[in-house]
Amino acid sequence: MRAYQIVGGNRLAGTVTAHGAKNAVLPILSAAVLCRRSVIENCPTLSDVAVSCHILRHLGIAVDRQQSTLTLTRIDEGCRDIPVEWMRAMRSSILFLGGMLARCGLVTLSRPGGCSLGGRPIDLHLLAMRQMGAVIEEEGDTLRCTAPHGLHGAAVQLPYPSVGATENLLIAAAGTPGETAITGAAREPEITDLIAYLQGCGARIETDTDGVLLVQGRRELTGCRHTVLPDRIEAATYLAAAAMTGGEITVFARPEHLAAPLAALRRAGCRITADAESVSLTAPARLLGMGSIVTLPYPGFPTDLQAVFMAMAAGAHGFTSLTETVFEHRFAHVEELRRMGADITAAGRTAVVSGVPRLQGASLACPDLRAGAALVLAALAAEGQSTVTDVSHIERGYAGFVPTLAGLGAAITPVEV
Ligand code: EPZ
Repeated sequence: MRAYQIVGGNRLAGTVTAHGAKNAVLPILSAAVLCRRSVIENCPTLSDVAVSCHILRHLGIAVDRQQSTLTLTRIDEGCRDIPVEWMRAMRSSILFLGGMLARCGLVTLSRPGGCSLGGRPIDLHLLAMRQMGAVIEEEGDTLRCTAPHGLHGAAVQLPYPSVGATENLLIAAAGTPGETAITGAAREPEITDLIAYLQGCGARIETDTDGVLLVQGRRELTGCRHTVLPDRIEAATYLAAAAMTGGEITVFARPEHLAAPLAALRRAGCRITADAESVSLTAPARLLGMGSIVTLPYPGFPTDLQAVFMAMAAGAHGFTSLTETVFEHRFAHVEELRRMGADITAAGRTAVVSGVPRLQGASLACPDLRAGAALVLAALAAEGQSTVTDVSHIERGYAGFVPTLAGLGAAITPVEV
């Protein structure tokens, strides 16, 4: 099994450029099933992207990768079911549902896999497709989906701003002639990036004065050249790594997408300056507790940074309380951080962290992607040596994680254990 060996205590300093965002590129790749030819630039090298490319090839799209540019060309009709092993490989495989229903009017697939963060139902995705005319038969994990008369435009109200359900709906609506109105849509920057891609491909999408998304779809989308936006979660992870090691860093990303995490870093005592395309951080000698952090849909504090900021709080002077409202179970890192000496009391969806002067190195296992990144950061800040196993979770979401950290001065080495 692959693992990272880490010797803590080095101060991280330097400059990092965030890669294209995983959570933006995956829906864009799913939407590409509707298009004749697309060129996607700034595409990160991640295992989830590789799974999407396998699915695209299976669905009749030729995929050519040159460095970080993917060229996607439709070569056949590709109206095929999606094999269960690719559905189980990641959560985002469910985003092919909307595009395949719009393009082919039928697809059979299974419930998706992905990080284990609690129940993760897909009821909102299915509700949205049904309102657009899909008939979905559920048999165990298998979903037989058809649109006997084709999908049609609809007025869909999402009871919760689910990122994935909004994306599936946008993709289905963009490939369906007529108007679809989406009330209660998610507003994450990755949604805005998907909208920009779909607009480039020929769909008309606007937001009315009440925040309702209005989509005028077309049966045939052309495709376009699109540059994926920088990954805000990756950017904030490296800012946190520098903050936790008393370091100094400049990260090229979009600070406008980082308002909530930057506010927490300021409360921790970091000095932060930003321009339109970069953020610079200088850490204090010791971080301070950050008070209350509550994860919420964008523009609230991102759930994807809750684990990383808990690791930061574990070594800060004072208290931080972190409340997870987005996912049912996203505290798997608490037990691992405790093994490093962290003082954390978790009850229900809230964890209260009382910072200790120094975490201690330990043998740690990544429970999921962001928790894994948090454990690596904790190990970099800790005294002594740590081994972090199950790192394939991390490599699903952070391109070049080890070389980037090593480039900032971290003592981190990939090993086989
Ligand atoms: C996306 O997941 C991201 N994944 C997640 O990133 C991110 O944590 C999450 O949005 C929230 O920001 C990708 O973009 C690929 P949701 P998604 O649908 O779409 C419930 C990471 O580490 N819900 O907004 O799955 C759900 O159970 C990952 O990069 C339903 O109840 O998130 C959860 O509690 C992990 N029914 C909440 O909504 C549904 O049909 C938010 O889920 C759908 C969701």
